[in-house]
Amino acid sequence: MTIRICPSILNADHTRLLEEIDRVATADLLHLDVMDNIFVPNQTFSLAECREIIAHSQIPVDSHLMIANPDEDAILYAEAGSASVTFHFEASTHPRVTIAQLKSSGVRVGIAIKPQTSFTAVADLLEEIDMLLVMTVEPGFGGQSFMSDQLPKIETARAAINRLAGDLPWLQVDGGISLETISLAARAGADTFVAGSAIYKAQSPAEMISILRVAADF
Ligand code: DX5
Ligand code: ZN
Repeated sequence: MTIRICPSILNADHTRLLEEIDRVATADLLHLDVMDNIFVPNQTFSLAECREIIAHSQIPVDSHLMIANPDEDAILYAEAGSASVTFHFEASTHPRVTIAQLKSSGVRVGIAIKPQTSFTAVADLLEEIDMLLVMTVEPGFGGQSFMSDQLPKIETARAAINRLAGDLPWLQVDGGISLETISLAARAGADTFVAGSAIYKAQSPAEMISILRVAADF
């Protein structure tokens, strides 16, 4: 299985963000957490800052939108140059329309579900998306503990994905991914791993990326 490591810059040093982005250039995707202080009680990057981050990053940017109105606004992050745009199922009133609109702009499209949202809620969207993101913490903040009660959901999602034909959607996990928890998520079937504090708290983020990669590839 192809493993992808996606460092989250949420808890990087924002006073020298562009340098922080350069420190993780050996990863597969740069994970960009967009929060609007409505969908989650925290606010991060403006659209202008996202554009700057995307323009600077040497690796493709994976935008994770924790915003209240993705049906209207998700397209802006595609147009800003993201390689992948993930929006929350809970915030969308017409996810199929938004998926189609994003796809026609040429980005990969992901759907994210919060810990209390069941896989069943999004099962019939699986064939239309490029990635399912199963949150393993409540979205809003970095540095929280991995919720191992999400593992059965990851297993169910993996089984459903493997029943599909053609290019299979990636199965991403986000929240509390560390050297200790990444193998649990990988064994449950995740192939794409967001890690914020584990990577940025390490002395060498690049070394941690390769260690995590090995730990996920069991
Ligand atoms: C949380 C964000 C995560 C966060 C992960 O809402 O979506 O991407 O940065 O941080 P860690 O890896 O520290 O849990
Ligand atoms: Zn995220």
